[in-house]
Amino acid sequence: DKRESIPGPSPLPLLGNIRDIDVKNTVRSLNELADSYGPIYRLKLGVANVIIISSYGLINEVLSRKEFIKYPVGTVMRMRDVIHDSLITAFHHEENWAIAHRTLVPAFGPLAIKQMFGEMHDIGSQLVQKWIHSGPTTAIDVAADLQSLALDTLALCAMDTRFNSLSRDADEPHKLVNALNGIFSEVTVRAARPAWFTKLQWSANRKFDENNAFLRKLAHEVISHRRANPSQKKDLLNALVNGKDPATGNSLTDDCIINNMMAFLIAGSETTGNLLAFLLYYLLANPRAYATLREEIDRVVGSDPLAPEHLNKLPYTKACLREALRLQPTVPVLAVKPVDVDGPIVLGHKWELDGPQTILILLHHLHRDASVWGENAKDFNPQRMLDKNFAKLPPNAWKPFGNGQRSCIGNEFAFQEATIAVALLFQKFDFSFADPDYKLTIKQAASIKPANLFVHAKPRPGVD
Ligand code: HEM
Repeated sequence: DKRESIPGPSPLPLLGNIRDIDVKNTVRSLNELADSYGPIYRLKLGVANVIIISSYGLINEVLSRKEFIKYPVGTVMRMRDVIHDSLITAFHHEENWAIAHRTLVPAFGPLAIKQMFGEMHDIGSQLVQKWIHSGPTTAIDVAADLQSLALDTLALCAMDTRFNSLSRDADEPHKLVNALNGIFSEVTVRAARPAWFTKLQWSANRKFDENNAFLRKLAHEVISHRRANPSQKKDLLNALVNGKDPATGNSLTDDCIINNMMAFLIAGSETTGNLLAFLLYYLLANPRAYATLREEIDRVVGSDPLAPEHLNKLPYTKACLREALRLQPTVPVLAVKPVDVDGPIVLGHKWELDGPQTILILLHHLHRDASVWGENAKDFNPQRMLDKNFAKLPPNAWKPFGNGQRSCIGNEFAFQEATIAVALLFQKFDFSFADPDYKLTIKQAASIKPANLFVHAKPRPGVD
């Protein structure tokens, strides 16, 4: 094969490519650079040379080759300051990853998740009540409320704790929500600057340590309470506290339980809440899809109380969720690194890496690659995600939940929670943009969300 050099913007001495990246919106910068430099380019970030790939061909190659293993970078890496070797933040060789994976996978299977219908429905109904009381002319900050929905659901399922963020009387957030938000923003800042600089931020570091200690103390109390008051509930808290590693018969250590409990809250709330916010946007922007989804919910659920049996009878709703995740994968970048490779590492038969470099995979580009999705890749078209079409997609074409062993453990949880929320909300409300001229722009926090999206929710006739 003939080798070609990997293109990229010129790095500055010492600073590397820092000026090519907007630290407030790294994802947008990476995507724009892919538009200029093509399917593979390189960046010097800090001391590391990073490779960024964005075409279906290269991404499919990397995700299929066994030597490319998840490698925590950026905010995921900095999250290790809080949740250490939890499932989401662990390096793949760390023993606690394998232990927690073996122990917790059964708790996330379809049958186990079905048992959490009650908790999910409970929080979904609180959101309905909140929006009924907002009245039809209030501009609702959907991303904020849907994130509260997802966080409260996880707190109930993983900690048996009610945050009540959606309650009408909640004039101030649960202390744990404040602590989590504090940690989120500090971790994001830490990820964007050198470690020596972080060490000098005494006051921010003290606050971070306090938030951390508060979270762990509360998590300890939750664990002790469940141990002292055993229940038959099939929730995530019981899976953490009582689960046994099938390989050794051991339970998880308290540290491991706490790290993973926090990991669920962190990995599962913004991601699921923002999926729902994007879905609402795409439905409002595509009235035909909106009408089809609503027709399905009216036909299957009607005015009955939503029940577990309804959930697998909503194929169009499922396709809409998949399609929203295609256009806006709320975790937009995956990172891998080659391990245990002798000899040169070559991608696409012609691009040779400088040794075992970190590779970033841009899901926005993958999910809009015309070779897979056609010329109308940018359109919201749920038809392409109905089971019969979904099954025909080429391998690794749709990756919003990551790859292989390190893919999302909570995808069934997220789909069930989101389906319940969509069914309850469309059964009860007519939605419209608060600003009819709204244009989608994206804000990046720990995941991506629609910026400044406000809607009106008008109760449908007969809803009180
Ligand atoms: C891993 C996406 C919901 C828990 C991942 C990964 C992605 C992802 C892309 C792989 C990350 C990587 O390669 O670095 C999503 C999306 C969600 C969602 C888009 C919602 C729409 C959830 C929920 C939970 C959860 C609800 C918990 C209840 C986890 C955990 C991992 C993970 C623990 C790490 C798995 C491992 O490495 O063993 N998720 N996630 N996620 N997710 Fe999710």
